[in-house]
Amino acid sequence: MEEKISNIKEQALKEIEQSNDIKSLENLKVKYLGKKGELTALLKIMGTLSPEERPKMGSLVNSAKNEITEKMQSKEEVLKNEELAKELESEKIDVTLPATKQRRGSKHPLNRVIEEIEDLFVSMGYDVVSGPELETDEYCFERLNLPKGHPARDMQDSFYISPEYLLRTQTSAVQARAMIANKEKTPIRIIVPGKTFRREDDATHSHQFNQVEGLVVDKNISFADLKGTLEIFMKHMLGEDTKLRFRPSYFPFTEPSYEVDVSCFKCGGKGCNLCKQTGWIELLGSGIVHPNVLEMNGYDPTIYSGFAFGTGLDRLAMFRYGITDIRLLYANDVRFLNQFDRKD
Ligand code: DAH
Repeated sequence: MEEKISNIKEQALKEIEQSNDIKSLENLKVKYLGKKGELTALLKIMGTLSPEERPKMGSLVNSAKNEITEKMQSKEEVLKNEELAKELESEKIDVTLPATKQRRGSKHPLNRVIEEIEDLFVSMGYDVVSGPELETDEYCFERLNLPKGHPARDMQDSFYISPEYLLRTQTSAVQARAMIANKEKTPIRIIVPGKTFRREDDATHSHQFNQVEGLVVDKNISFADLKGTLEIFMKHMLGEDTKLRFRPSYFPFTEPSYEVDVSCFKCGGKGCNLCKQTGWIELLGSGIVHPNVLEMNGYDPTIYSGFAFGTGLDRLAMFRYGITDIRLLYANDVRFLNQFDRKD
């Protein structure tokens, strides 16, 4: 019996030592210490021994059991640590490796130009406002001194939805809205960037395009204010050397009205293909707000005066970035848009 105990113990310790994962260790536990295990079997036959032998054998079996249990526990710890180490190894990341490059979207050239203009005018105390793209005939034309049947309506081929509603052809529509809304007659200083629509489609015209409108209404507003403002605006967008030329023109909502040309930023005014050899590029419509417009929208023209201007943002963006076809701005072709990836 003594030898048997010692054999079982040696065998168990050896197998525990050799086991190399938690699972086989579990199996050994069952094999030696479980209910039907080898040592447990020996304890069961204890009753058949003589009373003298019994305590000795009992204590031998128990100490074997303790030794095996201890060995098992220490082995289990070793194995667990090994497994943990393996797991950590497999999860290890090298933070010094270069990251996978993420494709980031880029700001659309039109949005860049809009943001730049907004920043400039906000710095001069203007508010940025918007109006509906689906506009009424009343705000788009009538309140701007363009009654139904007025010949100047021909200048803007329009998309009518119904006799009363159309897609706005000009951001000027918001001029009337701003004046009507300003019941207290506080000074108006606004710009209105936004989408406009006309029935045209070629390399320099798109059925959808963008304008920015400017309107200032207050007491004692004169042409000098308009001229100074547009000079700041154009120099900021196209360079400090830019010169402006005011040509008399006609818009129903301003009197006098001007078309404003800027000196060609490509040739500096010498004449090139961009300015069609004239040295000038036509860029804005502007003027002194017509007394009829002030009156129709709640302002006494003997007290108040104002100036207004409007320009195509698409053309500005095209000049700024050397884009030759306006439709590229609206085609959402990533090959085009990627060229405006931010480098910063
Ligand atoms: N709305 C005009 C257009 O689309 C541009 C314009 C001209 C706006 C004169 C103005 C202005 O505010 O005073 O052709």
